[in-house]
Amino acid sequence: MSKLMSPSLLPWTPDSWRRRPAAQMPDYADATARAEVETRLAHSLPLVFTGEIDALRQQLAEVAAGRAFLLQGGDCAESFADFNERTITDTFRVLLQMAVTLTFAAACPVVKVGRLAGQFAKPRSAPVETRDEITLPSYRGDIVNSLDFTPEARQPDPRRQLRAYSQSAATLNLLRALAQGGFADLHRVQQWNLDFLRTSPQGARYRDLAGRISETLAFIRACGLDAATDPQVRQVQFYTSHEALLLGYEQALTRCDPLSGAWYDGSAHFLWIGERTRQVEGAHVEFLRGITNPIGLKLGPATLPDTLLRLLDTLNPDNQPGRLTLISRMGADRIETTLPPLIRAAQREGRQVIWSCDPMHGNTLATSTGYKTRPFNRILDEVQRFFAIHRAEDSIPGGMHFELTGQDVTECMGGAQDITEQGLADRYHTQCDPRLNASQSLELAFLIAETLKDYRRDSRIKNPSNGEDIAR
Ligand code: PEP
Ligand code: CO
Repeated sequence: MSKLMSPSLLPWTPDSWRRRPAAQMPDYADATARAEVETRLAHSLPLVFTGEIDALRQQLAEVAAGRAFLLQGGDCAESFADFNERTITDTFRVLLQMAVTLTFAAACPVVKVGRLAGQFAKPRSAPVETRDEITLPSYRGDIVNSLDFTPEARQPDPRRQLRAYSQSAATLNLLRALAQGGFADLHRVQQWNLDFLRTSPQGARYRDLAGRISETLAFIRACGLDAATDPQVRQVQFYTSHEALLLGYEQALTRCDPLSGAWYDGSAHFLWIGERTRQVEGAHVEFLRGITNPIGLKLGPATLPDTLLRLLDTLNPDNQPGRLTLISRMGADRIETTLPPLIRAAQREGRQVIWSCDPMHGNTLATSTGYKTRPFNRILDEVQRFFAIHRAEDSIPGGMHFELTGQDVTECMGGAQDITEQGLADRYHTQCDPRLNASQSLELAFLIAETLKDYRRDSRIKNPSNGEDIAR
């Protein structure tokens, strides 16, 4: 490794990552099949278009400046088995509810990014899994292998990438229809409430908020203003994202824009680098530095300020606002010691970054009954500490990154529904990490809206020019 030149000093090409050590990539036994699949993908249509990617980047520049807030969320891992209209619509709906809660209650525009339409590949802490003295390769997401514990199922199969691609295309098609075809019209804000939420305290609280929004729209109309029929009220901009883990897949969907000569990864609007693949000299950092899409970088508690600065040099050498979102996932018990030195290092060097908080991945624990869970209180604790730290450091808390679903699952303990350790077994459906259910997601959105409102009020007092808003 030490013989390699710093990646940023060598020319980037869509395949330059192949000369770098690549962590977490599956070991495909059939190299011919892998190459055939990559060729087919390279001849397939990109899923997203360059204009949309540029628009997201501009909106993220607003987040970096403190004039908007980023909400990113969705499944830990999408699955082939759970692919249906209902699951996608419900996740979209809960994200809309959270976004409208933040927008209205905190008077803050929200940039909405789903972990959807391509979030299949999973990094794992161990390459193999052992059960009853049988050892098999770990499950790495449906795009790689299958969750069943048999040697056939666990064998990585490159053809699964084609199925993941077509599922992503179909998911995106539905998301576009929902975002633009009337479902997301703010006049329907009441109807976004999920059936099982209607009787819960969160559902009632949401109904109140939706009522106030409807009254506001009616008032605007009665004043003779046509803002109520504006496209920004009738539609939402909704973007997609996933972890860029399978670099063969990402490369195959990366195209050069003939007008600008820039390279765009057409698999999603936003891609991120996971905590386990962020080696400065590694393949993932090398690939992502060359694409024009806005990117994310997960930062766990072991991240050192110097490492962060080297990653910033490589991934955002021109220091463009909106290009890079740093997603800290420290854990409630460690964020206070681990995050401030990173914020200070970026500030000292004048780096333009968005700070987002993933309160999920540092707060996972195993129960005595064998379930992986995340206590709601610890999630909330990390969120609150994240805001308090940014306030103390005079820095901007720019966004949130959640693993959630619109389904009424029982995977994270606690929340207003008070899911107990015993209750986890009732509806524990995740393929991978435990997700917030719709009620818990909404509960968090209300709590974050309060904190964000305070933060924005205080920062407007300090900096009165920071008040403009951008599109929904
Ligand atoms: C994830 O977001 O699902 C994930 C694996 O996160 P991290 O890389 O932060 O562990
Ligand atoms: Co996860």
